[in-house]
Amino acid sequence: MNTRNHLSYESLLQRADKSVSEAVATVGKTYRLNYHFMPQAYWMNDPNGLVFFNGYYHVFYQHHPYSSEWGSMHWGHARTKDFIDWEHLPISLAPSEDYDADGCLSGSAVVGNGVLHLFYTGQRVVDGKTTQVQCRATSLDGVNFVKDRRNPLISDYPPEGSPDFRDPKVWEHSGVWFMALASGKDGIGKVLLYKSRDLSQWEYVGVLAQSDGTQGTVWECPDVFSLGGKHVLVVSPIGREPRRVIYFVGTLDYESGRFTADYSKELDHGPDFYAAQSFFGTERRLILAWMDAWDVDIPSKKDNWAGAFTIPRELVLDANGCLRIHPLPELRRLRKEHFSATSILLDGNEKKLAAFDLKEAGLEIILQLDMEKTTASHFGIVFADAQSSSQFSVGFKEKGKKLYLDTNDVGSGRKGIFSATLSLQEDRLELRIFVDRSSIEIFSDNGAVSLTSRTYPSSHTLIPHVFAVDGKLEVASIERWSLAK
Ligand code: FRU
Repeated sequence: MNTRNHLSYESLLQRADKSVSEAVATVGKTYRLNYHFMPQAYWMNDPNGLVFFNGYYHVFYQHHPYSSEWGSMHWGHARTKDFIDWEHLPISLAPSEDYDADGCLSGSAVVGNGVLHLFYTGQRVVDGKTTQVQCRATSLDGVNFVKDRRNPLISDYPPEGSPDFRDPKVWEHSGVWFMALASGKDGIGKVLLYKSRDLSQWEYVGVLAQSDGTQGTVWECPDVFSLGGKHVLVVSPIGREPRRVIYFVGTLDYESGRFTADYSKELDHGPDFYAAQSFFGTERRLILAWMDAWDVDIPSKKDNWAGAFTIPRELVLDANGCLRIHPLPELRRLRKEHFSATSILLDGNEKKLAAFDLKEAGLEIILQLDMEKTTASHFGIVFADAQSSSQFSVGFKEKGKKLYLDTNDVGSGRKGIFSATLSLQEDRLELRIFVDRSSIEIFSDNGAVSLTSRTYPSSHTLIPHVFAVDGKLEVASIERWSLAK
């Protein structure tokens, strides 16, 4: 193809690592995040290969080590024991063979017989025609990976699929390995299912699930797992408006390979939560997503980096079959300076909190609102930029029935109003907000709702104000922490 083929695989990887380490000094600090995982430099998108192996949570990610734009995809690699401190490791996959010459696209990892297996999609483009095939690389030490000589393990898509044929997600059930693959045909997003006894030879089972015609044309990055006695299918659809990760709670019949859904919903209601993947090899169902999106100009690109992971979250299915998404409890270790206040009544006034500098630390706020004593129709928190008129706000409309984030007046980046409908079954309404230098993640309704967005305020210093419109707001308590490592 090009000079790549003349270099040994090891030197291809070294060249990619060198490119990133040389770029680190050029990375602009303005929008760097304080407690989220980010690439050291240049571009990243999807989380890949999330796996617990030899005492560490390993994360891999779609990485372009030569610029802050998407390009020839490599797999970046890092590990952590606690989701607080991350150790960056050498790049683990680079395009090197005919079958992956134009990219090692998204995939997953499993541990089998003590060996770490990465499954990924090899992409090749010849005369404008893209071919996607399924490949494997293995490692004994969790750091150095060797591509399988038998690659590609799956070289063609089945009749129900199309050239969009990627993102293998592998898991084990009753001694058999299963692989879900992203596809779509005739405008209908699909998940295709394969199975294997040995992780090498894969047999096509059939269509695990597909769009009802309104849920997207290609279902990228499928994930399938059992939770609370049911099965959950998560997909990232192309061609659905708005573009949000959706999930289905239902039952996977392993005999027929068909998934029957009880219901489906958006997994997160914000614009910057995509390609979510859960971990293999952990008892808790932990999930990460790419905290950015394809349809937006990312302001940090000019600072030589782009992309991050969301904070890690745990998924739980409650007794009513409702999926809840919670920030990992481990994140409490980030909490430093604490402020709290109780029983604040807002009646035509607002409560200003101390200014907060996001340069060295992030922010977590928990508001407990007493809905019995609240009459206001619209209330929440405005984060005002201390040095300009830019601001963004999080709040509730329709007396707490609708959660929203408004970024229309924020300095740079995407602008809009994003919202989610709440069930609001209790008198207490909790609003939990994680702010970092260029992100916001909101949790409410006992974890039934989350909303994630990048936000790029003009300056580091924000002044939060709690406000209420058209009536009274009874704040039972406010807690606020700085979040730092
Ligand atoms: C999702 C996705 C995947 C693909 C990868 C390429 O964001 O489009 O389907 O494998 O990104 O980087």
